[in-house]
Amino acid sequence: MSSIDSQRRVLSGMRPTGRLHLGHLYGVIHNWVKLQHEYECYFFVADWHALTTHYENPHSIEASIWDMVIDWLAAGVSPSAATLFVQSKVPEHAELHLLLSMMTPLGWLERVPSYKDIQENQQDRDLNTYGFLGYPLLQSADILIYRAGHVPVGADQVAHVELTREIARRFNHLYGKEPDFEETARAAVAKMGKKVGKLYDDLRRKYQEQGDQEALLKAQALLREQQNITLGDRERLFGYLEGGGKIILPEPAAKLTQAAKMPGLDGRKMSKSYDNVITLRDTSDEISKKIRTMPTDPARVRKTDPGNPEKCPVWQLHEIFSTQETRDFVQVGCRSAGIGCLDCKKPVIDSIVAELAPIRERAAQYESSPDLVKSIILEGSEKARDTARDTLQDVRQAMGLNYR
Ligand code: TRP
Ligand code: SF4
Repeated sequence: MSSIDSQRRVLSGMRPTGRLHLGHLYGVIHNWVKLQHEYECYFFVADWHALTTHYENPHSIEASIWDMVIDWLAAGVSPSAATLFVQSKVPEHAELHLLLSMMTPLGWLERVPSYKDIQENQQDRDLNTYGFLGYPLLQSADILIYRAGHVPVGADQVAHVELTREIARRFNHLYGKEPDFEETARAAVAKMGKKVGKLYDDLRRKYQEQGDQEALLKAQALLREQQNITLGDRERLFGYLEGGGKIILPEPAAKLTQAAKMPGLDGRKMSKSYDNVITLRDTSDEISKKIRTMPTDPARVRKTDPGNPEKCPVWQLHEIFSTQETRDFVQVGCRSAGIGCLDCKKPVIDSIVAELAPIRERAAQYESSPDLVKSIILEGSEKARDTARDTLQDVRQAMGLNYR
């Protein structure tokens, strides 16, 4: 595994929240479905993360796992394109988490913005625990154990990916130094040949002496092009470029999901805790009823009162689900009182029903074959373990823990 492969690898996880809704579909799942064809993707259920907040009621977690995985599958996340697994079935995450915990300054965890926020907002739970403080470090282990270069997440998770980068940097700094690093790195430079070797050295100097980022990028590209050096040497030279040692755990980058915020039925963000969701498995009748009873611009008491779409949550749905033509129809009709709110809602209902009907059908099929779903996860978890074991072996060796 080299940094180059790491650039091809994507990892993301979701806590087991049970059945998914339209917000998840547009915020996360559509993105995963696209990425699975462009990268080597690992998608997993973060059940241990659920335990950090739900440790008093762990038995509720299992049903949420299967409900969520069924929705992934039904919405097009494919076990033949991506590796799908459950975190606790890959216990290697836990060993890496433990090893990383040894070198993680407490202050780094206490400083993570979500830590105090959630602790203060969840007054009904005692989150003054070791596990909860370690939440972002467990997430770092999730990412680093696959040496994933990209982590698609929402804005709320970016701080966790940042922490992961710092952890990786610290790990490489502490354990990436082979005793004869300088010599092996020089030997690797020589192996690239005179011309390329000199170019590499020049770029390295420009970066190290003048902080020239452009030179760093050029040198990295140069290394990626080299066919005649081993993966180990390439890793060394990546590390040597930046002045450190060998890169054992590459730093991941957050891939910010640019999804429109899905408005819920009341215009607030769609969220189970607001009870304003359309789930992926709602029937056509349920969808229709939910949208028909949605509040509209309060100024439109009667059909003859003109309205303003900007003040109406239904309009936000048009922005996501409607064509330009339909939007024009709404803008003109609403402002001139030319259409009624039910006329306006109809195309939204039709679009959502059309999008969700096939998903609901596939979900029903998976629901009636739980063994199939379990075997998909079992197989994915085995595959994930193979990758995780490789990383862990390098980590143990770097830390001098590979004794028998
Ligand atoms: N903390 C993430 C969330 O709440 C879930 C998660 C756990 C995750 N481990 C991860 C996301 C690793 C990305 C990568 O959404
Ligand atoms: Fe909202 Fe449409 Fe009614 Fe205007 S016509 S208030 S946009 S539902």
